[in-house]
Amino acid sequence: MNRLQVEFAGLKLKNPVMPAAGPPIKDGPAALAAAEGGAGAIVTKTISTEGARVPRQNMAEIRGGFLNTELWSEFPPEQWLEKEYPIVKKAGLPVIVGLGYTAPQIEELAKKVAPFADALELSTHYLGSDPSPVVAAVQAAKRAADLPVFVKLSPQIDLPLFATAAEKAGADGLVLINSLGPCLDIDLETGKSFMGSASGYGWLSGPAIFPVALRAVYEAYQHVSIPIIGVGGVSSGREAIKMIMAGAAAVQVCTAAILEGPGIYGKIARQMEKYLAERNIQSLAEIRGKAHNWQRLEDLRRWQPLIDPEYCTACGRCAKACVYHAITIDKYAVVDYERCAGCGLCITQCKFGAIAPKYED
Ligand SMILES: Cc1cc2nc3c(=O)[nH]c(=O)nc-3n(C[C@H](O)[C@H](O)[C@H](O)COP(=O)(O)O)c2cc1C
Repeated sequence: MNRLQVEFAGLKLKNPVMPAAGPPIKDGPAALAAAEGGAGAIVTKTISTEGARVPRQNMAEIRGGFLNTELWSEFPPEQWLEKEYPIVKKAGLPVIVGLGYTAPQIEELAKKVAPFADALELSTHYLGSDPSPVVAAVQAAKRAADLPVFVKLSPQIDLPLFATAAEKAGADGLVLINSLGPCLDIDLETGKSFMGSASGYGWLSGPAIFPVALRAVYEAYQHVSIPIIGVGGVSSGREAIKMIMAGAAAVQVCTAAILEGPGIYGKIARQMEKYLAERNIQSLAEIRGKAHNWQRLEDLRRWQPLIDPEYCTACGRCAKACVYHAITIDKYAVVDYERCAGCGLCITQCKFGAIAPKYED
Protein backbone atom coordinates (compact mmCIF):
# COMPACT_ATOMS: atom_id res chain seq x y z
CA MET A 1 0.00 0.00 0.00
CA ASN A 2 1.31 3.45 -0.87
CA ARG A 3 -0.10 5.94 1.62
CA LEU A 4 1.62 8.84 -0.12
CA GLN A 5 0.11 8.38 -3.56
CA VAL A 6 -1.91 11.41 -4.60
CA GLU A 7 -4.04 12.24 -7.61
CA PHE A 8 -5.13 15.75 -8.56
CA ALA A 9 -5.87 17.69 -11.74
CA GLY A 10 -5.42 14.48 -13.73
CA LEU A 11 -1.88 13.89 -12.38
CA LYS A 12 -0.97 10.73 -10.50
CA LEU A 13 2.04 11.05 -8.17
CA LYS A 14 3.78 8.29 -6.18
CA ASN A 15 4.38 10.90 -3.48
CA PRO A 16 3.35 14.55 -3.12
CA VAL A 17 6.86 16.09 -2.87
CA MET A 18 8.27 17.93 -5.86
CA PRO A 19 10.86 20.60 -6.61
CA ALA A 20 9.74 24.24 -6.77
CA ALA A 21 10.92 26.37 -9.70
CA GLY A 22 14.48 27.43 -8.89
CA PRO A 23 18.12 26.41 -9.22
CA PRO A 24 17.63 22.80 -8.03
CA ILE A 25 15.66 22.27 -11.24
CA LYS A 26 17.65 24.55 -13.50
CA ASP A 27 18.15 22.09 -16.40
CA GLY A 28 17.57 18.53 -17.63
CA PRO A 29 20.29 16.82 -15.54
CA ALA A 30 18.97 18.59 -12.41
CA ALA A 31 15.54 17.04 -13.11
CA LEU A 32 17.11 13.58 -13.30
CA ALA A 33 18.85 14.26 -9.97
CA ALA A 34 15.52 15.32 -8.42
CA ALA A 35 13.92 12.07 -9.64
CA GLU A 36 16.86 10.09 -8.26
CA GLY A 37 16.43 12.01 -4.99
CA GLY A 38 12.86 10.72 -4.65
CA ALA A 39 10.65 13.52 -6.05
CA GLY A 40 7.08 12.51 -6.95
CA ALA A 41 6.93 14.92 -9.92
CA ILE A 42 9.17 17.40 -11.70
CA VAL A 43 8.51 21.14 -11.89
CA THR A 44 10.90 22.90 -14.25
CA LYS A 45 12.51 26.30 -13.71
CA THR A 46 10.32 29.10 -15.05
CA ILE A 47 11.18 30.09 -18.60
CA SER A 48 10.09 33.14 -20.56
CA THR A 49 10.35 34.17 -24.19
CA GLU A 50 13.95 35.27 -23.56
CA GLY A 51 16.62 34.08 -21.18
CA ALA A 52 16.86 36.19 -18.01
CA ARG A 53 19.82 38.44 -17.30
CA VAL A 54 20.39 37.37 -13.71
CA PRO A 55 22.44 39.69 -11.50
CA ARG A 56 25.41 38.45 -9.47
CA GLN A 57 25.43 37.95 -6.45
CA ASN A 58 21.94 36.49 -6.34
CA MET A 59 21.67 34.05 -3.41
CA ALA A 60 22.40 34.34 0.32
CA GLU A 61 21.45 32.25 3.31
CA ILE A 62 20.41 34.63 6.08
CA ARG A 63 19.28 34.03 9.63
CA GLY A 64 16.03 32.04 9.48
CA GLY A 65 15.73 32.26 5.74
CA PHE A 66 17.20 32.81 2.31
CA LEU A 67 17.38 35.76 -0.09
CA ASN A 68 17.56 35.59 -3.87
CA THR A 69 17.32 37.86 -6.84
CA GLU A 70 17.51 35.12 -9.45
CA LEU A 71 14.56 35.88 -11.78
CA TRP A 72 13.65 33.14 -14.30
CA SER A 73 15.87 30.78 -16.37
CA GLU A 74 18.93 32.23 -18.05
CA PHE A 75 18.47 29.76 -20.92
CA PRO A 76 16.40 30.88 -23.92
CA PRO A 77 13.30 28.75 -24.63
CA GLU A 78 15.05 27.14 -27.64
CA GLN A 79 17.61 25.53 -25.35
CA TRP A 80 14.87 24.11 -23.12
CA LEU A 81 12.89 22.82 -26.11
CA GLU A 82 15.84 21.28 -27.93
CA LYS A 83 17.98 20.06 -25.03
CA GLU A 84 16.61 20.31 -21.47
CA TYR A 85 12.96 19.15 -21.71
CA PRO A 86 13.85 15.93 -23.62
CA ILE A 87 16.20 15.09 -20.72
CA VAL A 88 13.55 16.03 -18.13
CA LYS A 89 11.15 13.56 -19.78
CA LYS A 90 13.64 10.74 -19.16
CA ALA A 91 12.94 11.09 -15.42
CA GLY A 92 9.70 9.18 -16.07
CA LEU A 93 7.72 11.40 -13.68
CA PRO A 94 4.82 13.79 -14.30
CA VAL A 95 6.31 17.04 -15.63
CA ILE A 96 4.93 20.46 -14.70
CA VAL A 97 6.54 23.07 -16.95
CA GLY A 98 7.10 26.51 -15.42
CA LEU A 99 6.23 29.50 -17.63
CA GLY A 100 6.21 33.29 -17.17
CA TYR A 101 5.09 36.02 -17.25
CA THR A 102 2.61 37.97 -19.39
CA ALA A 103 -0.39 36.46 -21.20
CA PRO A 104 1.14 36.85 -24.72
CA GLN A 105 4.45 35.32 -23.55
CA ILE A 106 2.62 32.43 -21.89
CA GLU A 107 0.43 31.80 -24.93
CA GLU A 108 3.48 31.65 -27.21
CA LEU A 109 5.41 29.35 -24.87
CA ALA A 110 2.55 27.05 -23.82
CA LYS A 111 2.08 25.80 -27.41
CA LYS A 112 5.78 25.01 -27.74
CA VAL A 113 6.27 23.23 -24.40
CA ALA A 114 3.00 21.23 -24.57
CA PRO A 115 4.60 18.04 -26.03
CA PHE A 116 6.88 17.84 -22.97
CA ALA A 117 4.38 18.81 -20.28
CA ASP A 118 1.76 16.99 -18.20
CA ALA A 119 0.75 20.35 -16.73
CA LEU A 120 1.78 24.00 -16.77
CA GLU A 121 2.72 26.24 -13.85
CA LEU A 122 2.31 29.96 -14.47
CA SER A 123 4.57 32.13 -12.40
CA THR A 124 2.99 35.55 -12.40
CA HIS A 125 4.94 37.09 -9.50
CA TYR A 126 2.28 39.76 -9.48
CA LEU A 127 1.94 42.08 -6.48
CA GLY A 128 -0.84 44.51 -7.43
CA SER A 129 -4.49 44.55 -6.39
CA ASP A 130 -6.03 43.78 -9.78
CA PRO A 131 -6.18 40.07 -10.66
CA SER A 132 -6.80 40.67 -14.40
CA PRO A 133 -3.17 39.86 -15.47
CA VAL A 134 -3.50 36.50 -13.69
CA VAL A 135 -6.87 35.86 -15.33
CA ALA A 136 -5.41 36.76 -18.75
CA ALA A 137 -2.41 34.46 -18.15
CA VAL A 138 -4.65 31.50 -17.27
CA GLN A 139 -6.92 32.08 -20.26
CA ALA A 140 -3.92 32.36 -22.58
CA ALA A 141 -2.46 29.08 -21.30
CA LYS A 142 -5.81 27.30 -21.58
CA ARG A 143 -6.26 28.57 -25.15
CA ALA A 144 -2.79 27.46 -26.16
CA ALA A 145 -2.57 23.99 -24.64
CA ASP A 146 -4.93 21.23 -23.61
CA LEU A 147 -3.21 20.77 -20.24
CA PRO A 148 -3.96 21.34 -16.56
CA VAL A 149 -2.84 24.84 -15.59
CA PHE A 150 -1.55 25.73 -12.14
CA VAL A 151 -1.17 29.37 -11.14
CA LYS A 152 1.59 30.34 -8.76
CA LEU A 153 0.74 33.36 -6.65
CA SER A 154 2.68 35.76 -4.47
CA PRO A 155 1.55 36.04 -0.85
CA GLN A 156 1.34 39.82 -1.14
CA ILE A 157 -2.04 40.01 -2.80
CA ASP A 158 -5.69 39.82 -1.81
CA LEU A 159 -5.58 36.03 -1.80
CA PRO A 160 -9.33 35.20 -1.87
CA LEU A 161 -9.78 37.68 -4.74
CA PHE A 162 -6.89 36.30 -6.83
CA ALA A 163 -7.56 32.64 -5.99
CA THR A 164 -11.23 32.80 -6.93
CA ALA A 165 -10.45 34.85 -10.07
CA ALA A 166 -7.89 32.22 -11.15
CA GLU A 167 -10.36 29.40 -10.51
CA LYS A 168 -13.09 31.19 -12.45
CA ALA A 169 -10.69 31.80 -15.35
CA GLY A 170 -10.21 28.03 -15.63
CA ALA A 171 -7.12 27.33 -13.52
CA ASP A 172 -6.87 23.67 -12.51
CA GLY A 173 -4.87 24.38 -9.37
CA LEU A 174 -2.98 26.97 -7.34
CA VAL A 175 0.65 26.99 -6.23
CA LEU A 176 1.12 28.98 -3.02
CA ILE A 177 3.43 30.82 -2.47
CA ASN A 178 6.17 32.56 -4.39
CA SER A 179 8.99 34.23 -2.42
CA LEU A 180 8.18 37.27 -0.29
CA GLY A 181 9.58 40.77 -0.54
CA PRO A 182 11.35 42.84 -1.45
CA CYS A 183 13.75 42.30 1.47
CA LEU A 184 17.23 43.42 2.43
CA ASP A 185 20.24 42.06 4.30
CA ILE A 186 23.71 43.57 4.55
CA ASP A 187 27.16 41.98 4.49
CA LEU A 188 28.87 43.23 7.66
CA GLU A 189 32.30 43.12 6.02
CA THR A 190 31.48 45.19 2.92
CA GLY A 191 28.55 47.18 4.31
CA LYS A 192 26.68 46.34 1.10
CA SER A 193 23.67 44.21 0.24
CA PHE A 194 24.30 40.55 -0.52
CA MET A 195 22.15 40.98 -3.64
CA GLY A 196 23.46 42.33 -6.94
CA SER A 197 20.04 43.61 -8.08
CA ALA A 198 19.72 47.30 -9.00
CA SER A 199 18.01 48.06 -5.67
CA GLY A 200 20.10 45.61 -3.63
CA TYR A 201 16.84 43.98 -2.61
CA GLY A 202 16.08 40.28 -2.77
CA TRP A 203 13.17 37.90 -2.17
CA LEU A 204 12.73 35.87 0.98
CA SER A 205 12.22 32.10 1.09
CA GLY A 206 12.97 29.21 3.45
CA PRO A 207 11.86 28.66 7.07
CA ALA A 208 10.98 32.35 7.64
CA ILE A 209 8.11 32.22 5.14
CA PHE A 210 6.64 28.86 6.17
CA PRO A 211 3.88 30.38 8.36
CA VAL A 212 2.98 32.81 5.56
CA ALA A 213 2.77 29.94 3.07
CA LEU A 214 0.77 27.76 5.44
CA ARG A 215 -1.73 30.56 6.05
CA ALA A 216 -2.03 31.17 2.31
CA VAL A 217 -2.82 27.49 1.64
CA TYR A 218 -5.25 27.45 4.57
CA GLU A 219 -7.03 30.60 3.41
CA ALA A 220 -7.21 29.62 -0.25
CA TYR A 221 -8.61 26.19 0.71
CA GLN A 222 -11.62 28.01 2.17
CA HIS A 223 -12.32 29.85 -1.07
CA VAL A 224 -11.59 27.48 -3.96
CA SER A 225 -12.26 23.86 -4.76
CA ILE A 226 -9.30 23.36 -7.15
CA PRO A 227 -6.21 21.61 -5.69
CA ILE A 228 -3.50 23.67 -3.99
CA ILE A 229 0.22 22.93 -3.99
CA GLY A 230 1.90 24.32 -0.86
CA VAL A 231 5.38 25.84 -1.17
CA GLY A 232 7.47 28.00 1.16
CA GLY A 233 9.77 26.80 3.92
CA VAL A 234 9.06 23.10 3.55
CA SER A 235 12.22 21.24 4.60
CA SER A 236 10.95 18.15 6.43
CA GLY A 237 7.96 15.87 6.72
CA ARG A 238 6.68 18.06 9.55
CA GLU A 239 6.04 21.10 7.35
CA ALA A 240 4.77 18.91 4.52
CA ILE A 241 2.16 17.26 6.78
CA LYS A 242 1.10 20.67 8.11
CA MET A 243 0.61 21.86 4.52
CA ILE A 244 -1.65 18.85 3.86
CA MET A 245 -3.57 19.58 7.08
CA ALA A 246 -4.05 23.17 5.85
CA GLY A 247 -5.54 21.75 2.65
CA ALA A 248 -2.65 21.18 0.22
CA ALA A 249 -2.78 18.35 -2.30
CA ALA A 250 1.03 18.32 -2.61
CA VAL A 251 4.12 20.34 -1.68
CA GLN A 252 7.10 21.89 -3.43
CA VAL A 253 10.59 22.51 -2.08
CA CYS A 254 13.18 25.02 -3.29
CA THR A 255 15.40 26.52 -0.57
CA ALA A 256 15.90 23.25 1.34
CA ALA A 257 16.82 21.54 -1.95
CA ILE A 258 19.39 24.28 -2.65
CA LEU A 259 20.95 23.88 0.79
CA GLU A 260 20.68 20.11 1.21
CA GLY A 261 20.63 18.70 -2.32
CA PRO A 262 18.11 16.61 -4.26
CA GLY A 263 17.94 13.81 -1.68
CA ILE A 264 15.64 16.14 0.29
CA TYR A 265 12.54 15.16 -1.73
CA GLY A 266 12.75 11.48 -0.81
CA LYS A 267 13.70 12.36 2.76
CA ILE A 268 10.57 14.49 3.18
CA ALA A 269 8.43 11.76 1.59
CA ARG A 270 9.86 9.11 3.96
CA GLN A 271 9.22 11.34 6.97
CA MET A 272 5.62 11.85 5.82
CA GLU A 273 5.19 8.10 5.38
CA LYS A 274 6.56 7.49 8.90
CA TYR A 275 4.15 10.05 10.38
CA LEU A 276 1.18 8.35 8.71
CA ALA A 277 2.31 4.81 9.54
CA GLU A 278 2.87 5.61 13.23
CA ARG A 279 -0.69 6.90 13.47
CA ASN A 280 -2.21 4.19 11.32
CA ILE A 281 -3.38 6.76 8.78
CA GLN A 282 -3.95 5.06 5.43
CA SER A 283 -3.79 8.03 3.07
CA LEU A 284 -3.12 11.76 2.97
CA ALA A 285 -6.80 12.28 2.14
CA GLU A 286 -7.58 11.34 5.77
CA ILE A 287 -5.74 14.41 7.08
CA ARG A 288 -6.18 16.86 4.21
CA GLY A 289 -7.87 19.99 5.55
CA LYS A 290 -7.80 18.68 9.13
CA ALA A 291 -6.70 22.10 10.43
CA HIS A 292 -10.01 23.63 9.41
CA ASN A 293 -11.88 22.59 12.53
CA TRP A 294 -10.19 25.44 14.40
CA GLN A 295 -12.05 27.08 17.27
CA ARG A 296 -10.94 30.21 19.03
CA LEU A 297 -10.02 29.70 22.68
CA GLU A 298 -10.40 32.92 24.60
CA ASP A 299 -10.60 31.70 28.14
CA LEU A 300 -7.66 30.33 30.12
CA ARG A 301 -9.91 28.01 32.07
CA ARG A 302 -10.67 26.06 28.93
CA TRP A 303 -7.14 24.65 28.65
CA GLN A 304 -4.00 24.12 30.70
CA PRO A 305 -0.48 22.93 29.88
CA LEU A 306 -0.04 19.42 31.19
CA ILE A 307 3.47 18.08 31.90
CA ASP A 308 4.12 14.41 31.24
CA PRO A 309 6.81 13.37 33.80
CA GLU A 310 7.65 10.35 31.66
CA TYR A 311 8.96 12.54 28.83
CA CYS A 312 10.13 15.62 30.81
CA THR A 313 13.94 15.73 31.16
CA ALA A 314 13.88 18.75 33.54
CA CYS A 315 15.97 20.63 30.95
CA GLY A 316 14.40 23.93 32.05
CA ARG A 317 13.73 25.43 28.59
CA CYS A 318 10.04 25.89 29.37
CA ALA A 319 10.73 27.52 32.76
CA LYS A 320 13.32 29.90 31.24
CA ALA A 321 10.92 31.10 28.55
CA CYS A 322 7.88 31.41 30.85
CA VAL A 323 7.39 35.17 31.19
CA TYR A 324 4.70 34.54 33.84
CA HIS A 325 7.17 32.60 36.06
CA ALA A 326 4.60 29.83 36.28
CA ILE A 327 7.01 26.90 35.79
CA THR A 328 9.61 25.61 38.24
CA ILE A 329 11.91 22.66 37.77
CA ASP A 330 12.01 19.94 40.37
CA LYS A 331 12.49 16.34 39.24
CA TYR A 332 10.46 17.53 36.31
CA ALA A 333 8.71 20.75 35.28
CA VAL A 334 5.88 21.81 37.58
CA VAL A 335 3.23 24.35 36.53
CA ASP A 336 1.73 26.83 38.97
CA TYR A 337 -1.73 27.12 37.43
CA GLU A 338 -2.51 30.26 39.47
CA ARG A 339 0.29 32.07 37.63
CA CYS A 340 -0.10 30.38 34.25
CA ALA A 341 -1.67 32.76 31.73
CA GLY A 342 -2.30 30.05 29.16
CA CYS A 343 -0.06 31.62 26.51
CA GLY A 344 1.04 28.19 25.27
CA LEU A 345 4.71 29.07 24.65
CA CYS A 346 5.95 26.22 26.87
CA ILE A 347 4.47 23.69 24.46
CA THR A 348 6.67 24.83 21.59
CA GLN A 349 9.71 25.24 23.87
CA CYS A 350 9.65 21.58 24.86
CA LYS A 351 11.87 19.49 22.60
CA PHE A 352 10.70 16.21 24.13
CA GLY A 353 6.94 16.39 23.58
CA ALA A 354 6.40 16.46 27.34
CA ILE A 355 3.92 19.35 27.41
CA ALA A 356 0.49 19.02 25.87
CA PRO A 357 -2.61 21.19 26.03
CA LYS A 358 -5.31 19.71 28.24
CA TYR A 359 -8.71 21.01 27.20
CA GLU A 360 -11.65 21.21 29.56
CA ASP A 361 -14.82 19.59 28.29
C1 LIG B 1 17.14 31.05 -5.95
C2 LIG B 1 15.66 30.97 -6.19
C3 LIG B 1 15.17 31.01 -7.50
C4 LIG B 1 13.79 30.94 -7.74
N1 LIG B 1 13.33 30.97 -9.03
C5 LIG B 1 11.99 30.90 -9.26
C6 LIG B 1 11.47 30.85 -10.59
O1 LIG B 1 12.21 30.83 -11.57
N2 LIG B 1 10.13 30.82 -10.74
C7 LIG B 1 9.26 30.80 -9.68
O2 LIG B 1 8.05 30.76 -9.89
N3 LIG B 1 9.72 30.80 -8.41
C8 LIG B 1 11.06 30.84 -8.19
N4 LIG B 1 11.53 30.81 -6.90
C9 LIG B 1 10.56 30.71 -5.78
C10 LIG B 1 10.43 29.25 -5.32
O3 LIG B 1 9.95 28.41 -6.35
C11 LIG B 1 9.50 29.14 -4.10
O4 LIG B 1 8.20 29.58 -4.46
C12 LIG B 1 9.98 29.97 -2.93
O5 LIG B 1 11.39 29.97 -2.86
C13 LIG B 1 9.42 29.44 -1.60
O6 LIG B 1 9.78 28.08 -1.40
P1 LIG B 1 11.04 27.60 -0.49
O7 LIG B 1 10.92 28.27 0.82
O8 LIG B 1 10.95 26.11 -0.46
O9 LIG B 1 12.27 28.06 -1.22
C14 LIG B 1 12.90 30.85 -6.64
C15 LIG B 1 13.40 30.80 -5.34
C16 LIG B 1 14.76 30.84 -5.11
C17 LIG B 1 15.26 30.75 -3.69
